[in-house]
Amino acid sequence: MGAVAADVEALKQDTRGAWSRGDYGELAKLFEGAAGELLDACAISAGQEVVDVGAGNGNLAVLAAREGASVVACDLTPTMVELGRARTAAEGLAVEWLVADAEQLPFEDARFDCAGSVFGAMFAPRPERAAAELLRVVRPGGTVGMASWTPESYQGQSFAIGRRHMPQGADLAISTDWGDEAIARSRFESLGARVEARRRSVPFRFESPAAMSSFFARNAGPVVAAREAMSPERYRQMAEETKRLAAGRNRATDGSMAIDVDYLLVVARKRG
Ligand SMILES: C[S@@+](CC[C@H](N)C(=O)[O-])C[C@H]1O[C@@H](n2cnc3c(N)ncnc32)[C@H](O)[C@@H]1O
Repeated sequence: MGAVAADVEALKQDTRGAWSRGDYGELAKLFEGAAGELLDACAISAGQEVVDVGAGNGNLAVLAAREGASVVACDLTPTMVELGRARTAAEGLAVEWLVADAEQLPFEDARFDCAGSVFGAMFAPRPERAAAELLRVVRPGGTVGMASWTPESYQGQSFAIGRRHMPQGADLAISTDWGDEAIARSRFESLGARVEARRRSVPFRFESPAAMSSFFARNAGPVVAAREAMSPERYRQMAEETKRLAAGRNRATDGSMAIDVDYLLVVARKRG
């Protein structure tokens, strides 16, 4: 195995481990608005075949199934698939769940009207493969929708802090490049798709800065995994930098936290 392939496999193993920690059901509530925006942008509706890729516990899958679409949801992390399956079963929604990698989707060509991914496929380490796979599984005229944090957003900058403290393999793509419109466009346009992109944001609201840090330390799997992997001093430094970043972005003046976190919503339509 070459160095890059080894890095890719190691990163995917780390991804599965990281997202198996924390309480994802709580974190997912922050991202529900983005799933709704993607649903509307791709005009997901009753009777369509839809796949939610990097589905987590199924924010997009749930909304699409409530619309009456026929929905498959998949994620690299088996724990997420279990969480999602339990969530859709509890709601009485007929969503088919499976473990799958955005870089190698186990579906035939042109099966879906829409392949959507909300802050999921952006984490695949080889973005060209993920883009090609998402487009391959939609029919001509169908859409790929991706929501991805922008590099300058609070999330983008907190990931940059994380990379400084836990460097990733040198040749691996940076996830928030998907939030750069020129890069995201070129990834799909080079495959012949027609692309629309718009910036949106999701509100992060907490009663105080301390409440926000402890929310992420408790519920965000990658933060829990970082704390386990790092020395206490290194983790403390990373947490301090993240708190300073959050304080600088906070718009609230009453002691609470109010950050609007930007993401890029891309809709790529497959040409016939
Ligand atoms: C921030 S969560 C987003 C989950 C969900 N889409 C939502 O909106 O709540 C990121 C998810 O991407 C998944 N993921 C990361 N790399 C992936 C890959 N290569 N293929 C599929 N899923 C992946 C993780 O397992 C995790 O569930």
